[in-house]
Amino acid sequence: MAVKLSICFLIYALSLSQIFADESAESKEFVLTLDHSNFSDIVSKHDFIVVEFYAPWCGHCRKLAPEYEKAASVLSSHDPPIVLAKVDANEANNKDLAAQYGVQGFPTIKILRNGGKDAQVYKGPREADGIVDYLKKQSGPPSAEIKSADDATAFIGENNVAIVGIFPKFSGEEFENFIAVAKKLRAEYDFAHTLDAKLLPRGESSVSGPTVRLFKPFDELIVNTQDFNVDGLKKFVVEASIPVLTVLNSDPKNAPYLEKFFTSSRTKAMFFIDFNAEGAESLESKYREGAELYKKDGISFLIGDPEAGKSVLEYFGAKKDQLPLILILQDDDKKFVKSNLKAEDISTFLKDYKDGKVAPHVKSEPIPESNNEPVKIVVRDNLQDIVINSGKNVLLEFYAPWCSHCKNLAPILDEVAISYESDADVVIAKLDATANDVPTETFDVQGFPTLYFRSSSGKVSPYDGDRTKEAIIEFIEKNRDKPAQQEQAKEKAEEKPAQKEQEKDEL
Ligand SMILES: *[C@@H]1O[C@H](CO)[C@@H](O)[C@H](O)[C@H]1NC(C)=O
Repeated sequence: MAVKLSICFLIYALSLSQIFADESAESKEFVLTLDHSNFSDIVSKHDFIVVEFYAPWCGHCRKLAPEYEKAASVLSSHDPPIVLAKVDANEANNKDLAAQYGVQGFPTIKILRNGGKDAQVYKGPREADGIVDYLKKQSGPPSAEIKSADDATAFIGENNVAIVGIFPKFSGEEFENFIAVAKKLRAEYDFAHTLDAKLLPRGESSVSGPTVRLFKPFDELIVNTQDFNVDGLKKFVVEASIPVLTVLNSDPKNAPYLEKFFTSSRTKAMFFIDFNAEGAESLESKYREGAELYKKDGISFLIGDPEAGKSVLEYFGAKKDQLPLILILQDDDKKFVKSNLKAEDISTFLKDYKDGKVAPHVKSEPIPESNNEPVKIVVRDNLQDIVINSGKNVLLEFYAPWCSHCKNLAPILDEVAISYESDADVVIAKLDATANDVPTETFDVQGFPTLYFRSSSGKVSPYDGDRTKEAIIEFIEKNRDKPAQQEQAKEKAEEKPAQKEQEKDEL
């Protein structure tokens, strides 16, 4: 009886697995779907796993999906198999998981090693073949051995940064530290090691003792170091691979360096000149001298063609008649500007900047000569007078000329302003936040339009209510200080208006 039953069960089970096998052959997905319930469990079982955090509404994610799936299918037969997974980070239950991995935009792809203990941002291509190549390399050893001159030329190439450790033997502290640095930086740089400096295409063919040689397609073409301290070596790799001058023009070869330049947190000095003008060469060489001198002080230097750098000039509110022009942008968003430079002024300006003797530049449109429309025009240079020191209740709109939601709001603000025309204590105003610096210590402008209300006693509140005349007037009436109430109002506790999601045009 028992035997019979188990045979029946076996047949049943076999037929069932047959059905499932057929079905999965048709619609097999190679990308694993993970969520909060099984993420840790699955990830902890893998030495190397790739996870895409996506959101269903994200266009780039949808574009990536078929490529990612194709790469997953190819990599499933790699030896050992490489697993690609995805997490819907928009799903409420998965949000903690996304936060834990620092996900801020979509898609974010992470390479998780060591059962999830080490996470690294995926910085590779977004199409199937590129994903496959990049992940094969990332899952392999952090540094490849160069055994022949052919290996060396294939690895080093003409147009990229490559780092080679030259060792008398592949062991010992220097070698271990080199591999540790390669592990940390492998997402962004290519590492290799060799026993024989003669195989390498550039540089001295014999070295005394362990040496790291960085190859690059610009400046001095190779740099050596014998500093094997992990932090020192990391710093060397990062700094030696930044060109003394990053070039901003229409040549696509510069793109990777420009990306590094603009995404780094270093201070950015940017020199714009007309490369065809007389004297351009001597300007460039003076600027290069400054760059050589100050690159150690956390400043990166760029030289650019004003056409290619149009958006940078706009960001500073700079015009072409200011060329030659140095623009400096600090990580805290402070700007410094020096216009119409002569070659002999460059080193003085850079030194003065370095010594803290140059005042920051505040971008402002000119103060308008007449300001008689119902909605007052505020620029950075009259913001203090109209908004902060006027002793009035001010509703201030931060807008961008291209923003469609701002255009829809304009006639409504006009109506609000008109209804307050006979009330001298209330001002409705607007500021073009693309042409004027926003005082970020008071106003947080992340999209357009952003509305703030500042009562005459100085209480600042964001306005997130409906964009209708009635709602705005109601808000002003509730939050304004009547002259007699001003003193009391100062003591009243801050009330935060209920946050309401409204559509904004992104910055
Ligand atoms: C993880 O759990 C989700 C939800 O239950 C499920 O859809 C998914 O297939 C699971 N993933 C794996 C790899 O088991």
